[in-house]
Amino acid sequence: MQRPFVLAFFSLILLDSVIAQISYSIPEEMPKGSLVGNVAQDLGLDTKRLISGKAKIHSRNSAEYVELNRERGVLLVKEEIDREALCSETTVCALDFQVILENPIEFYTVTVQITDINDNAPTFEKSEIHFKISESATPGAKFVLKMAEDHDVGINGIQKYELKPSDNFALKLQNNLHDNKNVEMVLQKPLDREKQEQINLVLMAVDGGEPQMSGTMLIVVTVLDANDNAPVFTQQTYKAAITENSPAGSIIASVTASDADQGSNGKITYSITNTQANVRKIFEVNKDSGEVSLIGNVDFEKNRRFEIIVGATDEGGLTDSCKLVVEVQDVNDNKPEISIMSKSNVISEDVELNTIVTVINIEDMDSGENGNVKCFINENMPFILKSSTNNFFSLVTDSELDREMASEYNITVTCSDEGVPSLSSSVTLTLQISDVNDNAPVFERSSYEAYIVENNTPGLSIFTVKATDADWNQNARVSYILEDSSVNGVPVSSYVSVSADSGVIHAVRSFDYEQIKDFQFHIKAQDGGSPPLSSNVTVKMLIQDQNDNPPQVLYPVQTGGSVVAEMVPRSADVGYLVTKVVAVDVDSGQNAWLSYKLQKATDRALFEVGSQNGEIRTIRQVTDKDAVKQRLTVIVEDNGQPSRSATVIVNVAVADSFPEVLSEFTDFPHDKDYNDNLTFYLVLALAVVSFLFITCLVVIISVKIYRWRQSRILYHSNLPVIPYYPPRYSDTLGTGTLPHVYNYEVCRTTDSRKSDNKFGGAGGQNVLIMDPSSTGTMQRIQSEKSILDEPDSPIEVRQHFIHLYCVGVSGGWGGVTCF
Ligand SMILES: *[C@@H]1O[C@H](CO)[C@@H](O)[C@H](O)[C@H]1NC(C)=O
Ligand SMILES: *[C@@H]1O[C@H](CO)[C@@H](O)[C@H](O)[C@H]1NC(C)=O
Repeated sequence: MQRPFVLAFFSLILLDSVIAQISYSIPEEMPKGSLVGNVAQDLGLDTKRLISGKAKIHSRNSAEYVELNRERGVLLVKEEIDREALCSETTVCALDFQVILENPIEFYTVTVQITDINDNAPTFEKSEIHFKISESATPGAKFVLKMAEDHDVGINGIQKYELKPSDNFALKLQNNLHDNKNVEMVLQKPLDREKQEQINLVLMAVDGGEPQMSGTMLIVVTVLDANDNAPVFTQQTYKAAITENSPAGSIIASVTASDADQGSNGKITYSITNTQANVRKIFEVNKDSGEVSLIGNVDFEKNRRFEIIVGATDEGGLTDSCKLVVEVQDVNDNKPEISIMSKSNVISEDVELNTIVTVINIEDMDSGENGNVKCFINENMPFILKSSTNNFFSLVTDSELDREMASEYNITVTCSDEGVPSLSSSVTLTLQISDVNDNAPVFERSSYEAYIVENNTPGLSIFTVKATDADWNQNARVSYILEDSSVNGVPVSSYVSVSADSGVIHAVRSFDYEQIKDFQFHIKAQDGGSPPLSSNVTVKMLIQDQNDNPPQVLYPVQTGGSVVAEMVPRSADVGYLVTKVVAVDVDSGQNAWLSYKLQKATDRALFEVGSQNGEIRTIRQVTDKDAVKQRLTVIVEDNGQPSRSATVIVNVAVADSFPEVLSEFTDFPHDKDYNDNLTFYLVLALAVVSFLFITCLVVIISVKIYRWRQSRILYHSNLPVIPYYPPRYSDTLGTGTLPHVYNYEVCRTTDSRKSDNKFGGAGGQNVLIMDPSSTGTMQRIQSEKSILDEPDSPIEVRQHFIHLYCVGVSGGWGGVTCF
């Protein structure tokens, strides 16, 4: 408060009376000691009077504010006056007091009017107030504000309010400020929390004083959220890829939605909203994070693509949705599947090429390379796999089948796809090859040779032929059949038989080596197929010799009645060949190897027998003392096991002249009548025999010539010949051995002069046939010789002649040997 403004006026209402009245007007808050008014002057009093009159102020309540200075006669501010404190709202504020004087008593009323100065600014009760207003509040909504206070009055009181900024709100004031203690804030424009969450407003109250004063209050408006925003996905469509067979829990994609709202209004929950349950069984979305993960199995072969609708919901119930497209990528997880459409388990070995055996179908569920399938079969099979349309394959025969080579095939069909790594599967087909009778039985050997010892028991099993047949079962069942043929004009079946089942060959009869040495026959092996196949084999049967024949002495001839003696001249030297014992053995080999021994002799010192050749020679000079008549017994043995033997008695006459011999030999006992008779019969017999012989000779020659002309090839000798000549026996002459060939020669070429056998020639020279009743013997031999000497006779003829002649003679002469 600067210089106080003094308003003084005089009012002398009753000047005569003691009572007078004066008024002053001062502004409030004048400092202490400030002049209020000059009462002495205004009352017309002298200061002396004031002092003498002991002037003083009398007030019931105002005394403290104003004091009277008697010496100066003025009123001064005793204490600073605050109009608001003194009068509050009262509009005319005045202090009333009296100035009282004594001697005489004088009585003056003084009024001091206190005028207002603008010393109070408007003030708000709170410097800051808060409002929470939902953003959903509608325009027109009112919010009451407490008014400010200004203790000043009048113009110094509050004149107006201002609200800043005024974007959303406006103030609404009542016309009369003083009537309405409130001022209202009205929402003009909707709030948006998402734009401005808090609005700071300043409310200012302004008074009208000079200088003007104002008070402010901060209004903080917090905009409360309303769920006015739906969640919004960042993309309408998301894309993701996943390989099939990914493990559960794999995270596929993450979807994100945002909500501008706050708190629960902005809290988003994700969920899969597909209606199909299958998607919800396979996928799951984390309700808070929006991560989509796999919980089930994805199989490319079932579903290649999924569309997942993911919804986002805030707690206020607003939603949005997006689509997540999941492409499933193929993994080579399916093997090719092989299914057999049709198949044969058995095929015949004679099927044609390209016969379909099996048809198979291949499926691979994978796609692309993973589903490209190639098939093959194991190697070295007479089959190939032919592919036809639509993954059908047929297995056909590619080359000829042979059950005998392979009766069963295990055909493994393997199919593999082209994935990486490739998957494959296989199936094994077992195919049986059925038999066709395409193989004939085959004998184990191309020909057989069998041996049997003669004199076998009939029915003896000799050996076994065996044939095998590569076919199967009935087609391989072999039977053995003896093929018809004849041996020496006799059906072979009378020699041998074959067991049909076993191929065992039995002898039907007992064989005699001396009659038949070998023969051949065929055996057929036939299988049980239809038609049957067969093959045959030649069996050569060789009969082996047994020592079943004793040696036969051919010379010297052992006669019943006559005595044949060899003559040895007394002049004979040592080693003189007396004679030779000739014997044969119809057996062969060792069984016919003969040896000679001297068994008994009149004089053992005179003769010896060559053990190999049967030659009887002198071993010392013959003397006169030696008896004329010598008798030697020679035993001939063969070499068989056991050996067989024959003995022969050789008479030797040691004499120089024939009469000497006769005289010596005639003492043999003789019966005259018997000899006469015998002579007669002999002559008769000789005549008959000669006749028969000539007849036979004629017939035989005719027949032989005829046959010889017809076919010499077909001719077969039935003569018992001795075919076995051990090599060392053939070494004739040198060793002195009598070889068999030589024996044979003896038999057939009686007249061979080249032979060193003295037998042929001996007949004429040295042999003396001691037959007293007949001297024709010599002539007979001579005549035989002449016949045999026929130069043109074929050798066979001569053989036969000898043979027959022997028979004839032996028949007629009863035990006399052939020559
Ligand atoms: C085929 O397979 C079967 C069973 O595995 C086996 O017994 C037979 O010996 C096989 N055959 C061939 C020819 O491999
Ligand atoms: C037996 O074999 C011979 C020669 O090998 C042949 O000529 C003949 O026809 C065969 N006989 C049979 C019945 O097979």
